[in-house]
Amino acid sequence: MTAAYLAADGLMDQLQEELRRAGTTMTATHDRLLVCDGPAVASVWAANIWHDCVELPVPSIGNAAKALRDIQRNWAMYAPLHHRRAALIQERLPHVSAKPIVFPAAAPTAPLGSWTLLEPDRLLAAARCTSPFPNGEVVFIEDREGPPNRAYLKLWEALVQLRRWPQPSERCLDLGASPGGWTHVLAKLGARVIAIDKAPLDPKVAAMPGVEWRGESAFGLDPASVGPIDWLFSDIICYPARLLTLVERWRASGLVRNFVCTIKFQAPTDHDSAAAFAAIPGARVLHLHHNKHELTFLLDAKA
Ligand SMILES: C[S@@+](CC[C@H](N)C(=O)[O-])C[C@H]1O[C@@H](n2cnc3c(N)ncnc32)[C@H](O)[C@@H]1O
Repeated sequence: MTAAYLAADGLMDQLQEELRRAGTTMTATHDRLLVCDGPAVASVWAANIWHDCVELPVPSIGNAAKALRDIQRNWAMYAPLHHRRAALIQERLPHVSAKPIVFPAAAPTAPLGSWTLLEPDRLLAAARCTSPFPNGEVVFIEDREGPPNRAYLKLWEALVQLRRWPQPSERCLDLGASPGGWTHVLAKLGARVIAIDKAPLDPKVAAMPGVEWRGESAFGLDPASVGPIDWLFSDIICYPARLLTLVERWRASGLVRNFVCTIKFQAPTDHDSAAAFAAIPGARVLHLHHNKHELTFLLDAKA
């Protein structure tokens, strides 16, 4: 049995180290795709994980397209090699919508396989992959007017992946909120937002209905002084271990229903903290397409 892991751009080292720690044996590398022996293991750094890969001899383009169609309908091409031939195969497969997403929307649920040409006449394919997006890439119709920066894109992506988002009047805490990209997203959804940051919000965001800014440190905030909240968001720049302590404190308070937090890394990557977040029962830890040297922690604490 073989699995393959697609590294996000520039994050091959993180993926390789994670797989090494998991005890997997890498057998081949095709640009950003790492092929490993054995069943797929959990990976937070992979943009997409290809389960149960099969290698198929494909003497012709038509033969390759038929072999894929015989397995299932929807396929995403990853073609660092033999790109032109691969594109001709993909053209003969059913069209998979690549329309940019208009937020809010839930991630697609239709199975999406992935394939690549190892040689002109040899294909590697996996019908089951972890990402519902081609090569894990999520593309949005952007909001170039409202938010004060581009940080809103990773929050959009997190909520699309979660397939849920704050509802009107739900109570949100946005830690590390300045200048207000995330607060803008939440207020636009109609939620009430307590934005915590020593730095102020962009005045346009501060003036949105339901937004309250508190100029204090997120680490000094007593959960009891805030009370029950539907969503805790954090995009604070801090060491992962410090964020973990903050998350544990809020989990222990029992006051939070959902967590969406960016775990930000410096060099070298703190793999132990990443693993500690992933070990929290019910947690999902993902490298989003809009994350840099970061991961996103998602938790429905009341599930
Ligand atoms: C990446 S920015 C957040 C961007 C924000 N999510 C947005 O969409 O505009 C990180 C923020 O963390 C804030 N920060 C750093 N330490 C903090 C702390 N102890 N408490 C609250 N905020 C903190 C910084 O002031 C900075 O504004």
